[in-house]
Amino acid sequence: MIDNMTISKQYNLTKDAVLLIDKGDHKVYWVGTTSEKALRSNIYLIKDRSEAIIVDCGSRAEFQETINRIEKIVPLSNVTRIFANHQDPDVTSSLIDWLEINPNIQIIASPNTNILISHYIPNDQDYNFYNTERNPKLTLSSGAVLEFIPSPFMHAPGAVTIYNHATKTLFSGDIWAALSLEWKLVLDTDFDNHIEYMNFFHENYIGSNKIARNFLFNIKDKDITSIMPQHGSIITQKNISKALNYLKYLKCGSDFYRDISDEELMFD
Ligand SMILES: [Fe+2]
Ligand SMILES: [Fe+2]
Repeated sequence: MIDNMTISKQYNLTKDAVLLIDKGDHKVYWVGTTSEKALRSNIYLIKDRSEAIIVDCGSRAEFQETINRIEKIVPLSNVTRIFANHQDPDVTSSLIDWLEINPNIQIIASPNTNILISHYIPNDQDYNFYNTERNPKLTLSSGAVLEFIPSPFMHAPGAVTIYNHATKTLFSGDIWAALSLEWKLVLDTDFDNHIEYMNFFHENYIGSNKIARNFLFNIKDKDITSIMPQHGSIITQKNISKALNYLKYLKCGSDFYRDISDEELMFD
């Protein structure tokens, strides 16, 4: 029996959708891939009454695996919206396949991300775009509210996270992503051991500590009880403050570069 706000540890990763949070009319599932790729994608599905919204639909290579999981919980025709944190192929490239199934699917993204997403769509095909800058809150039929919170340059310029007010979940995209061969869907071990795996990603993909702190400022008033990143492990309530502190003191990207003086840039 899954408690209302508790992520279940009883899951079968081999083929099923994994029910993570159950609030009756409003549920959150994991429908990602178990592929051995270094950047293994977590894909999430929000089921609100009969409507299904996919959070970061993933790469074309794993499309069939995702479809197989989703079909266990809803007919594919119930998928009416797809959220895109940013335009990377591991996050968004299967959009093409989804639009083939249903050309009316709404694509939720920032305008900056949308400019690049349009390059995935063949023949200038029109699609239904939801602009997160113009409409930063989306109320679903159960009354659940999804709030789109910008995370610029974390790591893409137009990256946007989702704060789900109904479940107090932050869908964080590549923030708090981790790379590890010993992957676990839900982080149940010591957070400090997980830092090394997050560093592999953040040091190379996130721009700077200043950028990380600007994102923390954007979420500082939110009561977060779970973080669901696009790679690595779901972070649960007991580790949220450690996760926030991880970003606060993160050294990454340009923090490792030295300042170049004007004199050094005197060109002949
Ligand atoms: Fe990315
Ligand atoms: Fe990614």
